[in-house]
Amino acid sequence: MSMFNKFAIVKRYTEEDETSNLSCGGNISYLALKPGETVLDLGCGRGTETLEAAKLVGPRGWAWGLDVTPKMIEVASGRAEEEKVENARFLVGSMEAISLEDVSVDAVLSNCAINHVEDKVAVYREIFRVLKPGGRFVISDIMTDESLPEHISNDPEAVAACFGGAITVEEYEQALTKAGFFRITVYKERRYYKNGYEMISRTFSGQRP
Ligand SMILES: C[S@@+](CC[C@H](N)C(=O)[O-])C[C@H]1O[C@@H](n2cnc3c(N)ncnc32)[C@H](O)[C@@H]1O
Repeated sequence: MSMFNKFAIVKRYTEEDETSNLSCGGNISYLALKPGETVLDLGCGRGTETLEAAKLVGPRGWAWGLDVTPKMIEVASGRAEEEKVENARFLVGSMEAISLEDVSVDAVLSNCAINHVEDKVAVYREIFRVLKPGGRFVISDIMTDESLPEHISNDPEAVAACFGGAITVEEYEQALTKAGFFRITVYKERRYYKNGYEMISRTFSGQRP
């Protein structure tokens, strides 16, 4: 992640008020979490889905939330304390270098966060590394049909605004298979315009063999 993009992302999410909706999907039901499982939420923001996941996996299970913005982790940790959720922990860090052991989680979820990272292959390799064999992910993310022009993809403000970092559907699908995932399934897709560019918000799953 470039320093300029990281600065713009952390600035944006530190300034976000605590009630605005940051989500682009709502994908947790597709994960079909079971009691006792360990789950990881990448770019967890205020931890809404991490806390929901913690409740679904129950006291024998565990939920990690990871986010690059310290303010988001502070808010998410405060919510866990308020809601007395004892099987969730929130970590400050980047999803390109996840601070968890290999083969340590059953399921990964991420909602509208991976688009912020330039190197999607690095992120999906990290997801592959931490997942147990047979483990799965369900992700909502932003992509495009056509490549965005360089003045948009190189603009840290556009990257922080959840659209400048979008790559094409074709590039995205290549990143998933390069990282080693199979059984890619698309659940839903929504198209909309952002600054005159057609964006696709897609929710999909995949599995580590
Ligand atoms: C649009 S918000 C989504 C938050 C949450 N998933 C939700 O749906 O409410 C994107 C989040 O991704 C985080 N983020 C951006 N780049 C990241 C990175 N490289 N590693 C971890 N988190 C990142 C941001 O700090 C922000 O909290």
